[in-house]
Formats: sequence, C-alpha cells, structure tokens
Amino acid sequence: MKIITATDYQSMSRKAAQIIASQLVLKENSVLGLATGSTPIGIYEQLAAWTKQGDLCFRNAVSVNLDEYCGLPADHPESYRSFMEKNLFSSIDLNPANAHLPNGNAADPNEEARRYDGLVQELGGVDLQLLGLGHNGHIGFNEPGEAFVMDTHVIELSDKTRQANARFFGGDIAAVPSKAITMGIRTIMNANKILLVVSGEEKMDILRRALEGPVTPHVPASILQLHKDLTVVCHPGYGREQ
Ligand code: F6R
Repeated sequence: MKIITATDYQSMSRKAAQIIASQLVLKENSVLGLATGSTPIGIYEQLAAWTKQGDLCFRNAVSVNLDEYCGLPADHPESYRSFMEKNLFSSIDLNPANAHLPNGNAADPNEEARRYDGLVQELGGVDLQLLGLGHNGHIGFNEPGEAFVMDTHVIELSDKTRQANARFFGGDIAAVPSKAITMGIRTIMNANKILLVVSGEEKMDILRRALEGPVTPHVPASILQLHKDLTVVCHPGYGREQ
C-alpha cells in the first residue's frame, strides 16, 4: 500500500490525475474504473484540461463506473450517467460507446447487475479502479453490513449515505433514491490497481480505520488492505508515515 498525503484538495486531485494519466500513457486501451461524488471532480477537471491541451488521449480507453442509482431516468441531473457526462465525458475524447455505467432503470435490476459483471469480465477486467470513501467506510455503494457482497448487486442505501447525498437533491433526503446498483467487493478487488482518493478532515478517522483497523464488512473499505496494488491519495492525512 502506498499513501500519498497531499497539501490540499487541488494537489490531491492533481496527484491522482497524474496516476490515471500515467496508466493511460502506459496502456492507451486501459479499462478505467470510475467513481462519482464530490471527491473526484477536481481529478476529472485536471484530466479534461490535459486532454484539451493534447497531452492526454482517451480515444482507445474504456470506462466502467462503480455504481448508479435505481429509478432515476438516465438524463436526470443527479443520475451518475449525467454526473459523468457533465464532469468528464463531455470534455474528453472517450468514445461514448465505451463509457459504461449500470442501467439503473433496467426492468430487472438484479439481472442488470449480473450483466454488468459479465461486461467487466468481457472487457478483460479493470486496469485501474478509482474509488472515493463514504463517511461510513463504503466503497462504491457497498454499505457496512455483516458480510462482504462479492458481485455487482442491488443495494438498499443506508440512511447515512442518503443523508450525505441529499446535498445533491436540494437537501431533501426523501428525493434521494433508496436503491442503487453497485459493483461488488470482488469486482472491485479484481482490479489490477486501485486508487483511493479521500478528502476532508472529517473522513480521516474512517480512512485510518479502513487502512489500519481490522478487515471487516462493518468498514467495507478495510478490504482494500488486502489488495496487491493500492495507492491512497488523501488530504489532510492522518499522521501515518508514507
Ligand atoms: C461514487 C461512489 C461512492 C463515493 C463516496 C464518497 O461513485 O461510489 O462510494 O465515492 O460516497 O463520496 P464523496 O466523494 O461525495 O464524498
């Protein structure tokens, strides 16, 4: 595990963007696992800027997002598809046909979850998976529980997660969908490399528990301790030596 402590959000974003860019330089047809949420916005801005300058090219890349809400139309402003269009896809040269998210409106969400795992396998697996960290230790929408759920699945979102995401729905927790489709723990852990980005003093305690506490489904991100190639870029950090 490598932990990089950044001085501020901008520096965190730039360092993480450099890691993603180097992945693309080394393998232009990389399968990139992408995340939504507020943390990666600065990373996506940086990647978009480098693409605009001609320093980075996504033309041969493929992306698979971690998760999507159930029951929001794809063009709803808060769907993760809309988020990705707005914050990244519209500003880079990734082929839209190669930008994958789970379909949160599939007639059978469980079948859609199985299809998504099949897709990731068909693509040859994820080369680099970008992750944010939930306040409760979730990764993707793998919420704390009694057991790790291995495959992509439909999840009932916890009150804590819906509360945290209410800010995107005008502060109205009732407007936050109650279910989502998320990559499972095995799908995430199968990625060749994982890049975890964590920003904000209020997340440093859960980050420390994830990286140094017991590996437990009560802190889903703690499973990342077992990954063979994990890089954490965080700020302000929690005092651990790099
Ligand atoms: C998003 C996702 C979530 C977020 C996490 C942190 O696709 O899977 O796990 O990464 O909730 O969200 P922010 O960055 O908004 O604090």
